[in-house]
Amino acid sequence: MIVIDREQCTGCGSCVKICHESCLSLSDGVASIDYDYCSTCSQCVAICPERALSWDNVPPAAFDAARLPSPEQLDELFKQRRSIRLYKKDRIDRALLEEIVNYGIYAPTHNYSFRVIVVDKEEGIQTLDRILMRFISPLYNIAYRPKIVGTLAKLIGFSEEYLLNKPKVENAVKRGSAFRHPAAIVFIVGDKRIALSVDSAQYYLANMTFYAQVKGIASCLWGNGPIFMDKSRAARRLLGLQKHDRIFGSLLLGYPAVRFKNKVEGRTMPIQWLGG
Ligand SMILES: Cc1cc2nc3c(=O)[nH]c(=O)nc-3n(C[C@H](O)[C@H](O)[C@H](O)COP(=O)(O)O)c2cc1C
Repeated sequence: MIVIDREQCTGCGSCVKICHESCLSLSDGVASIDYDYCSTCSQCVAICPERALSWDNVPPAAFDAARLPSPEQLDELFKQRRSIRLYKKDRIDRALLEEIVNYGIYAPTHNYSFRVIVVDKEEGIQTLDRILMRFISPLYNIAYRPKIVGTLAKLIGFSEEYLLNKPKVENAVKRGSAFRHPAAIVFIVGDKRIALSVDSAQYYLANMTFYAQVKGIASCLWGNGPIFMDKSRAARRLLGLQKHDRIFGSLLLGYPAVRFKNKVEGRTMPIQWLGG
């Protein structure tokens, strides 16, 4: 939680001005906070010139502009990033996984209500794979008619595009596996009764993706994972999910077994300028 050091506070009011929940005010010339309305966005901690505010009494360090990546470095980071689905069988050290996963909370939402479940044992990953294949294989073998698949996809909220991608499904069925040896699967989980969004979870995963990349770890957003795993009773049991838990996003991680070499410029995005 956000803590105010009353000794350090000079009552400048910058935290009061920045707080978009209006839960900060000055009383007796010192900042005070109404925790009932605090969304933990932490902008007050980031703006305080005296560093009188902190998260859990951990003194905040100052920004260091010299350590920012240059536009050229960012350009390289963005264009070198590719989804990687084929991984080496090597495991990822838990300390490194923890480092990667922890960058999630620096996403713009700064919402500390999510939690993360990491499946990093081969056995667990294989079980999730089997759960997925138990659904996909019969579908492919028995009911592979576009109309049936389309209706089914709509019913369960699964991506119709994915299920209708016959070569992709066929390959997975032949291999008997949807995965190509990810070392870890990260799930962003939250309580569906509170205001959490898939968008926030995707921000978390984007942070992890880029941090993993600079650490030599490849990733692939598992877009269909959350939809499917969230509904599967076997997967919920394996992940230890409670009744009100919802999976908001999922990411596969692993040491890359492939190396991309080229930056693809692609096409520029159409922009519509409005406003006179
Ligand atoms: C919302 C979303 C969901 C995705 N879901 C999956 C998925 O379930 N499985 C998969 O292999 N790739 C998935 N991807 C990865 C894309 O297919 C991948 O980003 C695309 O192939 C482009 O390649 P790149 O990531 O190398 O730019 C997803 C991407 C997005 C944005």
